[in-house]
Amino acid sequence: MEKKVRRNARLAWVLSLLLVALLAACDRPQGVVAHALKSPNGNLEVGFALSVGGEPRYWVKFCDTMVIDTSTLGLDVQGHKGFFSNLEIEDVKVDSLDETWDLPWGERARLRNHYREQTIKLAGTNHRGRKLHLIFRAYDDGVAFRYHIPAQDSLEDFQLADENTAFDVVGDPLCWWIPGDWDSYEHLFNTTRVSGIRALSKARHPNLVCSTIPYNAVATPLTMRQPDGLHLSIHEAALMDYPEMTLALDPIKNGFVSELVGRKDSLKADLRPPFSTPWRTIQVARKAGDLIESGLVLNLNAPNKLGDVSWIRPTKYMGIWWEMHLGKASWDLASGKHGATTANARKYIDFAAANGIKSLLIEGWNTGWERWMGFPDREGIFDFVTPYPDYDLAEVVRYGREKGVELIMHHETSAAPRTYEQQLDTAYKLMQKLGIHSAKTGYVGPILPEGEHHGGQWMVRHYQKTVEAAAAHQVALDIHEPIKDTGLRRTWPNFISREGLRGQEFNAWSSDGCNPPEHLTIVPFTCGLAGPLDYTPGIFNLSLKPFKPDNQVKTTLAHQLALYVVIYSPVQMAADLPEHYAGKPAFEFIRQVGVDWDETKVLMGEIGDFVVIARKERGTGNWFVGGVTDEIARDLVVDFAFLPHGERFEASIYRDAEDAAWDRNPTEVAIERTTVQASDRIKLHLGGGGGFAVALVKTAQ
Ligand code: NOJ
Ligand code: CA
Repeated sequence: MEKKVRRNARLAWVLSLLLVALLAACDRPQGVVAHALKSPNGNLEVGFALSVGGEPRYWVKFCDTMVIDTSTLGLDVQGHKGFFSNLEIEDVKVDSLDETWDLPWGERARLRNHYREQTIKLAGTNHRGRKLHLIFRAYDDGVAFRYHIPAQDSLEDFQLADENTAFDVVGDPLCWWIPGDWDSYEHLFNTTRVSGIRALSKARHPNLVCSTIPYNAVATPLTMRQPDGLHLSIHEAALMDYPEMTLALDPIKNGFVSELVGRKDSLKADLRPPFSTPWRTIQVARKAGDLIESGLVLNLNAPNKLGDVSWIRPTKYMGIWWEMHLGKASWDLASGKHGATTANARKYIDFAAANGIKSLLIEGWNTGWERWMGFPDREGIFDFVTPYPDYDLAEVVRYGREKGVELIMHHETSAAPRTYEQQLDTAYKLMQKLGIHSAKTGYVGPILPEGEHHGGQWMVRHYQKTVEAAAAHQVALDIHEPIKDTGLRRTWPNFISREGLRGQEFNAWSSDGCNPPEHLTIVPFTCGLAGPLDYTPGIFNLSLKPFKPDNQVKTTLAHQLALYVVIYSPVQMAADLPEHYAGKPAFEFIRQVGVDWDETKVLMGEIGDFVVIARKERGTGNWFVGGVTDEIARDLVVDFAFLPHGERFEASIYRDAEDAAWDRNPTEVAIERTTVQASDRIKLHLGGGGGFAVALVKTAQ
């Protein structure tokens, strides 16, 4: 009898093995045990399966069609070979949330956070006590998942050798990518199919800051378009205490595998359970514009930890900055053309005050600029509390306050973050004492200590340390050469903006060509999906003459105006010199345009070709519309149906003059005033590299 039971059990075991093998051989999803999770509206599905060897897999479907094919998941834990194999499911927990939260500042006033969640609790079959969780979320605008390693006896502090999250993208979509440089996002975008990345990667990017990276990797957000028009964007959310993820081309399939930013010793991170990795995110949208309207990355972050942040004020700002990039002035004192002088600060404050611009960035104010970029021994050089003798910090602050202009402090670390960390508290304390509520920080060049990278765990920790220390002194940070945004501004609203892209400044000095006209038609759909970008728009002297006669801003002036709406940042620079704005009627738009929004609507857009965005200003209910095109001239019809019905708006339209284009007559702007309501449609002509900007002010009814 007992034998028969055992024989039957053996038979059942053999049959189940056969079934397992059959399922494994089946097209997709591969695996034995599968759990699928649908988004609230049912369109998106993220599925989980365990393979025959007990290895986790996932896939993503949109309207029942696979968009990310069955892909591997895993972490390589140093000294624990096979940590992600021979797993079995201990428990599956399903949950959901539907909440709406208020943004203290942002591109919208409120955001709905509506998702379904599935936690798969896994245990090792041959390492007793080994435990790990996979948490999946399905939203209507994308899916996300993260690894969670709970506290467990057999694993205390550990080192992460690698992460093996694959993204087996279906087909060979078109994608817009920059290389996965471990130190910089300041690259031009390439447009190729996934299969075209390999050939272009090294050839097109000789100027990578990090020369040791695998050349076949790209940065996230990585945005793609399938032939049927479906858009995907892969990124991450809530990146803390972990290296940044880049995406390496899968050597076998036409997809990607996570490539975490490394460090000197070839390992990736030091971790301690309980630990959750950042979320791996995949936005899915039928239209390109829906990617921009999505709140997925923000929603995946924890709520505001700072409480009342009314001291953070979205603002337009000017800067003693562009004149250094033009070579008119210098950061250091020794050059004899120091820009940050008390007299120059007064001049900028006067101009800003006269034009309702509330903030001023002053670079080169503190000692240390004689040994910054390019010097190997940069530690201990910059001093973040000591001004140069020709700059009276207290007086400049006082004068600014009298005129209603607050300083934005500047902290260039020259990528020597240990020196900055030693001074964080004194630097922020000084700011608080002076009533300065924001700083622009910078990390130009390779990081010291050697072997660390801007995107590595060490630096992720550093940026986080600065933002938390700054918050303690009511200081908000705008970071140049930052770690990319992953939505942490929800948790720390003083993480206000970043210059984490190839910004305007490249037009002043880049030797590999100025930003091409298409640049800003790609940015909002790619790096712009991560969070606010401080591009520093508003150049009016587009020829850069007489300063940089060999360089040029390759857009029209109307395009520069449009950028205040097209690119989102709560701090928007009026980057040009005061004398280049004086007497220019088009400057009125910069004076008027908002920086903080109740609503954002993408009216139309195709990545790399054109984009038109409308935003409703907080507090006034006025709307602003911006549109930009690539090098191709086009006529676009703006449908004002987004306006509240029954209300009339005074419209000021700034558009390219008839013959304006980036390469001929770029500065001529036609300005028209009219009245507009929801039923109106207006055709606007954009020259090559051109654009338009519209201010819509509510009329008294
Ligand atoms: C390099 C940055 O690219 C530039 O914008 C900044 O002015 C300098 N560092 C000084 O911080
Ligand atoms: Ca194009």
